[in-house]
Order: sequence, then C-alpha cells, then structure tokens
Amino acid sequence: MTQILSRSLPRTRAAAAPPAPAGPASLEAREITAWFGSHQVLDRVSLTMPARGITALIGPSGCGKSTFLRILNRMHELVPSAALAGEVLLDGEDIYDPQRRLTDARRAIGMVFQKPNPFPAMSIRENVLAGLRLTGTRVDRAGRDQLVEECLVRGGLWKEVKDRLDSPGGGLSGGQQQRLCIARSLAIKPRVLLMDEPCSALDPTSTRVIEETMKDLAEQVTIVIVTHNMQQAARVSDTCAFFLASQGTPGVIVEHGPTDAMFTSPQDQRTSDYVNGRFG
Ligand SMILES: Nc1ncnc2c1ncn2[C@@H]1O[C@H](COP(=O)(O)OP(=O)(O)OP(=O)(O)O)[C@@H](O)[C@H]1O
Ligand SMILES: [Mg+2]
Repeated sequence: MTQILSRSLPRTRAAAAPPAPAGPASLEAREITAWFGSHQVLDRVSLTMPARGITALIGPSGCGKSTFLRILNRMHELVPSAALAGEVLLDGEDIYDPQRRLTDARRAIGMVFQKPNPFPAMSIRENVLAGLRLTGTRVDRAGRDQLVEECLVRGGLWKEVKDRLDSPGGGLSGGQQQRLCIARSLAIKPRVLLMDEPCSALDPTSTRVIEETMKDLAEQVTIVIVTHNMQQAARVSDTCAFFLASQGTPGVIVEHGPTDAMFTSPQDQRTSDYVNGRFG
C-alpha cells in the first residue's frame, strides 16, 4: 500500500533534466492496477505498445480504457481520489520515477480527447502554438510560422485552413476542430499520441480523414487509440487489446495481439463475441 500511495502523490522534481530525446517511443505498461477511492477499476494490466505503430484499445463501456489511457501520461493522478500501482515505461524509462518531472511525461506523451477542445476564441494559428506556451518552449517568429504549417500539414488540415489561419478555431467544423487539436498536440513534438475516442462525435467522412491522418502520423509518433468502432480498430491499428470488466470486477486485458489475428482468429470466446458485436 505504501507504494500505491507514494505513486499517487509523486511530487519530487528533478534538478536538471537531460535534453528530451525525439522520435517515436515504445510504451510499456506493467501490472497497472488503478483505484478511484476504494473502487478498483483495473487489475494488473500489462501491455506493450510498439513504437511507430497504432495500438487500439477496445472493450465495453466502463471497463477502464480511458483510465488506462490517462495513466499512460500521468493524468490519472489529477483526480484527488485516484491511486495506482505498476509501471509505465517510455522507451524503458519509468514515467512515474520520482526523479522525473511530470511535465516531461506530458510533453512526450500527448493526448487528444473525445470532444474536440480547441480554444474557441483563439485563432487557428494560436491554437496550434498554444502548447508551446504551456510547456515553456521558445520558438522565434519564422520558426513559429514554419511549425504552424508543418503541424497543420501533419494533422491533415493545412489545405483547408491555410488562407484563414487568423480566424477563430471555434469557427471550424467538428472534424476540422479535432484535426486542429491533433495539430496542437503535434506542435510540442510528442513521442506518443494518446487518442480517446477521437472520432466518436464526427461524421463518417471526417472520421475517415482522421484515420488517414493517423496512418500518416504513425511513422513519426506512436499512437494509442481507444475506440468503440470495431471497423475503425480493424482499419487503423496494428495491434489491439481487448479490455473487459465482468460483473463488477476490475478491468483486465482478456486478449491482445496483432489486429488481424484478434479479428479473424481470436483465442478467447469473449473476444470473438465482442469483435463480432454479440455484446457490449
Ligand atoms: N473520475 C472518476 N471518479 C470515480 N470513478 C471513476 C472516474 N472516472 C472513471 N471512473 C470509474 O472507473 C471505471 C472505468 O471508467 P473508464 O472511464 O476508464 O471506462 P471506459 O472503458 O473508458 O468507458 P467508456 O467506454 O464508457 O468511455 C468506471 O467504473 C467508472 O465509473
Ligand atoms: Mg472512456
């Protein structure tokens, strides 16, 4: 229990952080157990998410997918009652190591949420650059213009907005706003991008555009996506993990592996039932 409490309250700051490495990183969760107060929601979940790949997390509502995702970039600890045990290794380094800074983990591991959340009154350009200010990254004016273009191109939005970069982000369509949020995440050069149901509020066309964007990005950033859309998991992911919390028990991973195998020849009957839409 001591370890659990100390992990839920990491406060120590490193004296001097080495320069952050760049490029996609692998992420490995080891024996992650999570609680909200006395309610245990995950039980010893281990999963390796390979660099330069897209990992999909699937499973019925309430089985702990979002909790697991938030643990991967230290957002779980923002909830006052939250606690956890286990390790998360970014290219082999524990992001919960008390010698490491919280901001280093959040900078290396970005997040895109279910509901697009650009700053509505800020311009498209300012939205892309917003993360730099929050992380204290300095870039000169020419560098900023270049970065805005680069991130919007990578986010699959450049062509649609290049002539109105100073218009408010809130004036874009839902699908465009979500791609703006992806561009904003990319500006701080994350090594991993976590996406929690990024297309659930979008129409099929916007969904396909975001899926194409994800596939283009996968060479440069490791992607972990939560989705309820089985076709989406099958279309975009290389590896897949099926989470389940049966009858009030904490969530576990029932099965994980290459996406093709999970969908065509699952080893566990429950996986087969879920991916074929028989429950959940
Ligand atoms: N902030 C919180 N405080 C207390 N309990 C929470 C909190 N967030 C989630 N939970 C509980 O943790 C469990 C897992 O929730 P989580 O949101 O991780 O599930 P999920 O698999 O993402 O579900 P969905 O598919 O509906 O998004 C649920 O029982 C939920 O009620
Ligand atoms: Mg969720």
